[in-house]
Amino acid sequence: MIDLLLKRRSTRLFSPQKIETAKIEKLVQSALLSPTSRNLHSCEFVLIEDEVKISKLSKSKPHGASLLTGAPLAIVLIGNTETTDVWIEDASIAAIDIQLEAESQELGSCWVQIRGRKYSENQSAGEYIAALLDIPHNYEVLAIIAVGYKTSTSENYTLESLNYSRVHKEVFQEQKDRETRVKDGR
Ligand SMILES: Cc1cc2nc3c(=O)[nH]c(=O)nc-3n(C[C@H](O)[C@H](O)[C@H](O)COP(=O)(O)O)c2cc1C
Repeated sequence: MIDLLLKRRSTRLFSPQKIETAKIEKLVQSALLSPTSRNLHSCEFVLIEDEVKISKLSKSKPHGASLLTGAPLAIVLIGNTETTDVWIEDASIAAIDIQLEAESQELGSCWVQIRGRKYSENQSAGEYIAALLDIPHNYEVLAIIAVGYKTSTSENYTLESLNYSRVHKEVFQEQKDRETRVKDGR
């Protein structure tokens, strides 16, 4: 698992190569297997391979969605807001499970944030997508995961680069406080 986590980097440039049906099936399985609060499965997935639709999705917000243009597959994650108050968490877990499954198949992926983003002054990015994909009113869009074969890859992470100052033991310790505690043998 750590090896997979070290390798997974956001991919924003994709080859036009289509993703094999069997690989898409595995992505779907990873999404459906992801844990959900009270096992309510509040998250649903809209798979888009249609180039015109993907191009429209790439315009769902002014910045950070254009990478979708070259992606052969976009998975739109939507949460049923009436089923649970933690649909965001449910959908987020599914999103990262899809990204890790993609990486395990040598596919690249990138999260495109939709929730809380605007399409225009008067329309949210989620409303724009809901209209495009006929999404019912009791669902909200969390994000879109762009997936495809990588044309370029960022460097893998390394264990040496991890910032352990973000990890606290027993109580929250400010960095300075921590250094003093170590010096004083506490
Ligand atoms: C909640 C979330 C929202 C993100 N939104 C976007 C986005 O809208 N557009 C984009 O290009 N990347 C987006 N990303 C990707 C991050 O920029 C990327 O994960 C981060 O810079 C770390 O790089 P890495 O994925 O290569 O480790 C998002 C990632 C997360 C987890």
